[in-house]
Amino acid sequence: MTVLATARLRLRRLVLDDAPFVLELVNQPSWLAYIGDKQVHSLDDARGYLAAGPLASYAQHGFGLYAVERSHVDAPIGLCGLLRREHLEDVDIGFALLDRYGGHGYAFEAAAAVVEHARHAIGLDRLVAIVAPGNARSIRLLEKLGLAFERTITPPGQTAPLRLHARSWCD
Ligand SMILES: CC(C)(COP(=O)(O)OP(=O)(O)OC[C@H]1O[C@@H](n2cnc3c(N)ncnc32)[C@H](O)[C@@H]1OP(=O)(O)O)[C@@H](O)C(=O)NCCC(=O)NCCS
Repeated sequence: MTVLATARLRLRRLVLDDAPFVLELVNQPSWLAYIGDKQVHSLDDARGYLAAGPLASYAQHGFGLYAVERSHVDAPIGLCGLLRREHLEDVDIGFALLDRYGGHGYAFEAAAAVVEHARHAIGLDRLVAIVAPGNARSIRLLEKLGLAFERTITPPGQTAPLRLHARSWCD
């Protein structure tokens, strides 16, 4: 199910058959360094991650993380979308690319579409993001999206502080 389309990309709902892609993505060094170890070590684990994460979010909230694909290629290159976390007051945006697809502006293109979707289709008046202080590429991307640094937070059960970025719309 395609949710959003941009000049070069489409964002669609994830399905359990995306398990091989998820298994690769969540175990690549940049994900492990900046997002953390999801303990996804097999295709079964990846299906469990999909079911408990994005698929549950679609059912509960009507939105979630989506697969990012190039328009004419049926293979995910990354994830981008919206998350509703218990410990945050606001919906946050998330994104990650397979490393081999970095440096082409795909993450910005996908995330800019998600920001517009959050504002106009979902009707949010505020969108946030949480990011590790050393994650320079993501921080630059958030700034390009208009999500400015607001404060530092430490999520429950974690010891390392994260940066909270935010963008609000007042109209
Ligand atoms: C965050 C992440 C998606 C950013 O990837 P990225 O490649 O920096 O971002 P983009 O896809 O938007 O690409 C931007 C780069 O493409 C370049 N680019 C090339 N062609 C482009 C085009 N047609 N349009 C726009 N930019 C283009 C830009 O100049 C920029 O390069 P630069 O960084 O050298 O200035 C990636 O680092 C990642 O997956 N990290 C691990 C997961 C993660 O940390 N997620 C966030 C948790 S908060």
